[in-house]
Amino acid sequence: MPDVSEGSQSAAGRSDPVSLEAPRLVAIDGPAGCGKSTVVRLLAEQLGALGVTALGFSSGLVYRALTWCALERGLDPSDGERVRELVGAVTIAIVERAGGLRVEIDGVDPGDELHSVRVTEAIHWIADDPEVRGAVLPLQRNLPVGPVILAEGRDLGTVVYPDAAVKIFLTASLEERARRRHAEFRDRLGEEISLEEVEERLRRRDEHDSTRDAAPLRPADGSRVIDTTDHDPGEVVELVLEGIPRAWLPYPAPPSKKSPSKRSPSKRSPS
Ligand code: DC
Repeated sequence: MPDVSEGSQSAAGRSDPVSLEAPRLVAIDGPAGCGKSTVVRLLAEQLGALGVTALGFSSGLVYRALTWCALERGLDPSDGERVRELVGAVTIAIVERAGGLRVEIDGVDPGDELHSVRVTEAIHWIADDPEVRGAVLPLQRNLPVGPVILAEGRDLGTVVYPDAAVKIFLTASLEERARRRHAEFRDRLGEEISLEEVEERLRRRDEHDSTRDAAPLRPADGSRVIDTTDHDPGEVVELVLEGIPRAWLPYPAPPSKKSPSKRSPSKRSPS
């Protein structure tokens, strides 16, 4: 059996027909280490417990897969022309697997390699290229229409899914995000890197992601801004759950407990 749903295109232009029905989308944006992927994972579990199938989609995987592919082929990621040729020559597919959406490049999912330091350090050459971003847009928009899609990235509410039913912008202090990323490098990837180095790299990426010309990181109009610095992931998930349309749930969700924190973690950005 093939994977249940699949939207694929060669970046040369072919794309599968897009359904007229819109996917039920939650678009979550925010800087590296703000907790997006943890919130997506827990939210998918919570929705699953309520009887709603939800698929997580980390949109950064598209850029990570392209960067990985360029490095594997010995291309210089800063060589825009060669990178654009590569994007036109490979087949990128978003496939449903193990309760989430993964990215395959020419049929290969490189797994944890996508999160290695070498890929993360080189990714900006590819993710910042407006032509590359334009080429992968149809792929990113061709998502399954049945399940709820919990997509996370940098420009989802602003550029990729401006009509998403729910738009969230997560943030957290630099120190807290560095602490989380450092633990992830150590525990998940087994990479030795100091906390100070992680913080410095994050600071540079923040500055880069929010000042670049192509799709800079910023809260989308009408998004709910949630500062996760002093909140555990469970509290953040409850806040996000409050904004899920009732029509997506098989029955009304139980009233959520109020966050015990004195600080108000969320505000709505102007529309
Ligand atoms: O979310 P992540 O760490 O996997 O993202 C990796 C890089 O990809 C990040 O530095 C910025 C880029 N990215 C992007 O430009 N747009 C997105 N929607 C998602 C990620």
